[in-house]
Formats: sequence, C-alpha cells, structure tokens
Amino acid sequence: MATIDDVKIAELPRFLDARGNLSFVEQLNHIPFEIKRTYWIYDVPGGEIRGGHAFKQNQEFMVALSGSFDVEIDDGENKKTFTLNRSYYGLYVPAGLWREINNFSTNSLALEFGSEHYSQEDYIREYDEFLKLKHDGKI
Ligand code: TYD
Repeated sequence: MATIDDVKIAELPRFLDARGNLSFVEQLNHIPFEIKRTYWIYDVPGGEIRGGHAFKQNQEFMVALSGSFDVEIDDGENKKTFTLNRSYYGLYVPAGLWREINNFSTNSLALEFGSEHYSQEDYIREYDEFLKLKHDGKI
C-alpha cells in the first residue's frame, strides 16, 4: 500500500546545447512502468485545480514541460506537496494516493504518463471513500 514516501522526483537526462536543450524519458527506465497512456493539461485558468481524486490501479509520471505547478499528495495519514518547475524533473506517483494539482503558472503544460488505459472505474472521486479504502488496506 503506497504512502507519500513512495512518491519520487526523478531528475531526467539533460543535453545542454547552445542550439537548445534536450531531455528525454524512457519507460521501464526513468518511468518505472509500461506507458499505456499519455495526456496533458494546458490552458489552465489562474487559481484552478485539477485532479482531486485517487486511482486504484493507474500509476503516473508527471512532467512540467512548461511553467510550473504543485502536486499535493495525500496517503490518508500524511500529505506532501511537490513543486514541478523544470522540464527535466519527473514525479512518479504510485496508485492508491489522493492527488491534486494546483498553483498552475501562466502557460504551464503538464504532461502525464499513465500505466493504464483510461477507465472511469479506476477513479476514486470521493475523499471519504478513499480514506475508507486506504484504512481497510484495499488500495
Ligand atoms: P479527469 O481525469 O476527470 O480530470 P481532472 O481529475 O484533472 O479534473 O478528466 C477530465 C475528463 O477527460 C473526463 O471527463 C474524462 C476525460 N479523459 C479521458 O477521456 N481520457 C483520459 O486519459 C483522461 C485523463 C481524461
């Protein structure tokens, strides 16, 4: 059962170049799962919050390709905020953790890789249900 201690920031490779810098990410290397899905969040109006749910199975890896945002992780007992503000950092978030993404900067672009295809059934959207499943050791 995942806790906030299982959430990890990974520093990605960087090729600094006068022509422009390059970074990359590989599945089963920097990302510790096979990628089944990639999506991105953009054009977030000031003050908005995304997320606010947990996944039963889906693991995630997030990168702030542009700008910055905060990822608040809650394991039912402890909370921690991770700030992503460089495109060469990635945040690994295991399944079974409540997470919210907020404090988006202007023009921020959040890229997210997932270990599962999109499934509405994989979402836990009620915080009380999350706490119950967590305390029962089901997620
Ligand atoms: P959702 O994950 O609910 O956004 P958030 O929790 O950040 O507010 O996704 C918003 C909508 O996008 C939802 O109605 C379903 C759709 N969606 C997909 O169809 N596929 C996907 O991979 C994702 C992430 C969302």
